Amino acid sequence: MTEKLDTSASYQQCARCGTRFADIDPAPKCAVCGGLLDVVHGPQALTGAQLRALFAQRRAAGDGGSGVWRYREIVLPAADDHIVSHPEGNTPLLSRDSVAAWAGIDRLLLKHEGHNPTGSFKDRGMTVGVTQALRIGARAVGCASTGNTSASLASYAAHAGIPALVFVPAGQVALGKLAQSLAYGARTLMVRGDFDACLALVQEASNRLGIYLLNSINPFRIEGQKTIVFEMLEQLGWDAPDWIVLPAGNLGNTAAFGKALREAHATGLIARMPRVAAIQASGAAPFAESFRGHFADRVTVDPETIATAIRIGAPASWDRAVRTIRETRGVVRAVTDATILESKAVIDAAGVGCEPASAASVAGVRELRRSGAIAAHERVVAVLTGHLLKDPGTISRYHQETEPAPAMANRPVEIEATVSAVERVLNERRASSGQS
Ligand code: F0G
Repeated sequence: MTEKLDTSASYQQCARCGTRFADIDPAPKCAVCGGLLDVVHGPQALTGAQLRALFAQRRAAGDGGSGVWRYREIVLPAADDHIVSHPEGNTPLLSRDSVAAWAGIDRLLLKHEGHNPTGSFKDRGMTVGVTQALRIGARAVGCASTGNTSASLASYAAHAGIPALVFVPAGQVALGKLAQSLAYGARTLMVRGDFDACLALVQEASNRLGIYLLNSINPFRIEGQKTIVFEMLEQLGWDAPDWIVLPAGNLGNTAAFGKALREAHATGLIARMPRVAAIQASGAAPFAESFRGHFADRVTVDPETIATAIRIGAPASWDRAVRTIRETRGVVRAVTDATILESKAVIDAAGVGCEPASAASVAGVRELRRSGAIAAHERVVAVLTGHLLKDPGTISRYHQETEPAPAMANRPVEIEATVSAVERVLNERRASSGQS
């Protein structure tokens, strides 16, 4: 293995025992010790300044329109002939005063990954993962998911013409996500168990049945997800913010952000490392609990949260994520479901909108600001990971069914089909907003 490997190109390396494998080796984990793999790229020929100029030139020229493949030198340089792209990425960095005021910080930007083609950041990992599936000649692809990964895989597999099998926890997937998997044509298995059970099952099934595994333990997914950070840094003129705050479940994205920042710093794309804050839901917060004990123990929990995307008790990318937090002097926090819902209502009412798990990031900014961990003058980017319409059930309950009505509930009003009824509602609104 090691002797034959061409290390001038990309290869895979076990994060635990260091064994190296060819970049087209399909095994999802290290064949020697079972550790997770990283993609390592050969020496970078271009300087940071040259890479910045190249990315800017491609951005200006359109270049296929993908906000993932624009960075291909630092994502997957060898992919050229096989790229499966919708395209994806090119998501906005938004500034909204009402959200910043709620979080208690002046300089807050929202990187909205819900603008990806299937409505979540997973598309950035999946364009690379499914491209890799074509490179290795996979006959089928599969994943376990809380809903977004499965929606994304279903879409990219359809695009590539590869059969997809997705494993989701029965009864715990938001409606929009399940609808996507079905619509895009993935074989959708509703497993009687939680996400952690789905992940264990899909790993065994992929080992035995030769399905190429596309969960975020797959290192090529991580390469794609790095581009959330590259693109955000580019949008900021490569002037890194003080903090990047993201929701955390299985910890793939936390791992990807650390790798992106490490590489951006090493290649000279940025001069300074931002700090990463990973935010969990308090009912599904094994990583936050472990952080409080300086990561002495690997914690697992029986997860429960309204943010079903991050309802995960035994995160897979644990060691990689610990590395991210340590290397960026980062922090991990947990926020309650009530705070997540309040945060979501504020983001939604700003006309931006996101799914519940995404709102955990802004809720986390508020907690970190209140505890003084984030200073008032600091520049913060919070990542919104998924689109508002992913989880219509939660929105409907919040605004229509919850008793007593939450502070920001916007109840629909049923009326007779008359202008006077409309006028009455208009007058009520004026009265309640203090207008005459
Ligand atoms: N936000 C959303 C909207 C997600 O769907 C996920 C994960 C996360 C945050 C957390 O990212 O797992 O990398 O820490 N969703 C996975 C899925 C588990 O199956 O769709 P993570």
